[in-house]
Amino acid sequence: MKLLLTGGAGYIGAHVATLAEREGHSVTIVDDLSTGIANRSSAPVVDINLSSADSVEKLSRLMRDTGFDAVIHLAARKQVGESVEIPEQYFLDNIGGFANLLLAMRQEQIKTLVFSSSAATYGMPAVDLVDEDYPCVPINPYGQTKLIGEWMVNNAANWGLRGVNLRYFNVAGSESKKLADTAELNLIPIAIAQLLRGEQPTVFGTDYPTPDGSCIRDYVHVEDLAKAHLMAVDYLNRPNQKYATFNVGTGQGASVLQVLEELRKASGMEFEEVLADRRPGDPPRLVANTDRIEKVLGFKASFGLKEIVKSAWDAAN
Ligand code: WQD
Repeated sequence: MKLLLTGGAGYIGAHVATLAEREGHSVTIVDDLSTGIANRSSAPVVDINLSSADSVEKLSRLMRDTGFDAVIHLAARKQVGESVEIPEQYFLDNIGGFANLLLAMRQEQIKTLVFSSSAATYGMPAVDLVDEDYPCVPINPYGQTKLIGEWMVNNAANWGLRGVNLRYFNVAGSESKKLADTAELNLIPIAIAQLLRGEQPTVFGTDYPTPDGSCIRDYVHVEDLAKAHLMAVDYLNRPNQKYATFNVGTGQGASVLQVLEELRKASGMEFEEVLADRRPGDPPRLVANTDRIEKVLGFKASFGLKEIVKSAWDAAN
């Protein structure tokens, strides 16, 4: 199939592009290269900023010239802290940019879409395993833009769009050095970069109501996440598929301290973590109920925490 992949020059996008090409798809990336790197995969990159005034015209022309079967939309700002500082930019880029993409898809009658959503849509769920029907109350503008994006996918069914929302849990790991997550924005790449600089990783809060006091998250390998995207495209090409939302996680939780223990094993380095205060807005636990994606898409994560941390460490060295 011919796939249009927005944000495909990013860490996750490059893994999706690489797997898609390996599976025989033709991939074209649209990315403004504000945070992405052009040559991470072999797919051609068209430099378009989705939230720019002329993006609908540029996207429509690209769609007419190439003729895509489906769109995978990953392009977005994704930093929770930054979204609190500049919410207007997050709404402009994540929602305005997405609206422009949908306008172009509607104009060119491209009716298959996989949307990159997030577990941040849940906010602070009060259950051990959160399923897709849990009430979404995002607690930061980033999570709000992802929930609104899901509503936009649902509304587009009115003109025939068949869409799937994938709610990413905590994505980490890497297929290779070339595809490594070079942005120090999440626990595992932050801790690895600190160790490589001779610094000690920091634990934000050890007084949470969890077994070891540190926050629990559902870490999912980026290669598993990439696979989920292609399974979602296949799902949408089955006859009569309807709008659906899926958690993408492992269903297993791991605490910050457990992640750091895996990092000791992967790196062979001994270190004492710095114990700091809680970070505002962190839920004590955020772990996916993965029943729906397993049942409907047949997706099950192949990698666990050990492989995730080791692949991230190996890709950084
Ligand atoms: C994980 C845990 C921190 C750094 C975010 C987005 C979410 C998704 C994943 C895209 C937290 C703790 C972190 C550090 C620490 N992204 N931590 N020391 O906040 O769970 O989720 O990324 O969809 O939408 O919200 O990820 O990696 O920032 O934090 O103790 O140096 O690690 O407090 O408990 P988070 P994270």
